Amino acid sequence: MLDRRYNATNGAVHLPAGNAAPALNGPDAASGVEWKDPTMSKTWFITGTSSGLGRILTERLLARGDRVAATLRRPGALDDLAAQHGGRLWTGTLDVADMAAVRTVVDRAFATLGRIDVVVSNAGYALFGAGEEASDDQIRHQIDTNLVGSIQVIRAALPHLRAQGGGRILQVSSEGGQIAYPNFSLYHATKWGIEGFVEAVAQEVAPFGIGITLVEPGPTRTNFGARLVSPPPIAAYDDTPAGEVRRAVTGGSFPILGDAGKVVDAMIASADASPVPRRLTLGSQAYASVRAGLLARLAALDGQREVALSTDVDA
Ligand SMILES: NC(=O)c1ccc[n+]([C@@H]2O[C@H](COP(=O)([O-])OP(=O)(O)OC[C@H]3O[C@@H](n4cnc5c(N)ncnc54)[C@H](OP(=O)(O)O)[C@@H]3O)[C@@H](O)[C@H]2O)c1
Repeated sequence: MLDRRYNATNGAVHLPAGNAAPALNGPDAASGVEWKDPTMSKTWFITGTSSGLGRILTERLLARGDRVAATLRRPGALDDLAAQHGGRLWTGTLDVADMAAVRTVVDRAFATLGRIDVVVSNAGYALFGAGEEASDDQIRHQIDTNLVGSIQVIRAALPHLRAQGGGRILQVSSEGGQIAYPNFSLYHATKWGIEGFVEAVAQEVAPFGIGITLVEPGPTRTNFGARLVSPPPIAAYDDTPAGEVRRAVTGGSFPILGDAGKVVDAMIASADASPVPRRLTLGSQAYASVRAGLLARLAALDGQREVALSTDVDA
């Protein structure tokens, strides 16, 4: 007889009475799914699981016997996985641009699952246009989703991770959190922004046993490209670097070498890595571009060393 209750101490599964909020599907008593030994498996919370990296991550974790609290904007997109893995998959409806909803759903997931080992802040998309081309509303939504949404997922998870004595967070950033392509200005603003937040918060929460890793894939084959949001172009940019990138991406000549499954496998492996990696840069494109970017920045910094050292107060 399967124990359907979850207890953080012994790993049994417990769905508290009255906790069946409409947005969450609890363990399915009718599914007959055997629970893998919880001492050997992990519990994950993931945002943006309807497609791409989030979906593949959810599939692979379920396949290896882990439990997943998967959140997504479109309820039903994971129905096939729920039918297959019922008892180990919970779903919560969540648009990460809704700050209040982020906290509510994260709280519910911890309350219901008892312990979550790894939180993956993955949901995101790109505004594809020169900085001048985007509308005010498009800018706000891009920042609310990728930056404020990610900050809020981390903030909502921290009190629970502290209370349980630690845990891991994987924040999906991008190579575009360290380098920049023209025509992706607002996207880079969000990814560089979340990198700064994580750099500081990782130091704040390390004493609580909480480790945060920035995942930095290069261009990877998911639905990301098909979902680019493009403001009306300004013709003046046609013959500029922004226009070149626009043509390469829309014309299909922009190289996309990343294998989403391999990216996900590296993310899963990183959750066990010790010490906690601050960054996980993935793909040959990301490795090359981030390396070139860092070297160029270091050279530029060294090139203005004398100016930097000249502006301290006189001894
Ligand atoms: N693919 C790449 O080349 C690449 C490279 C570097 C980093 N990344 C990052 O990887 C992450 C995942 O992207 P992907 O490549 O897997 O693309 P994807 O296939 O388009 O998946 C993106 C996911 O994010 C969700 N999402 C978007 N906005 C959301 C919101 N406001 N609230 C909740 N969910 C939202 C989407 O849900 P819906 O189905 O509801 O739209 C979808 O599930 C993103 O953070 C992206 O910036 C991707």
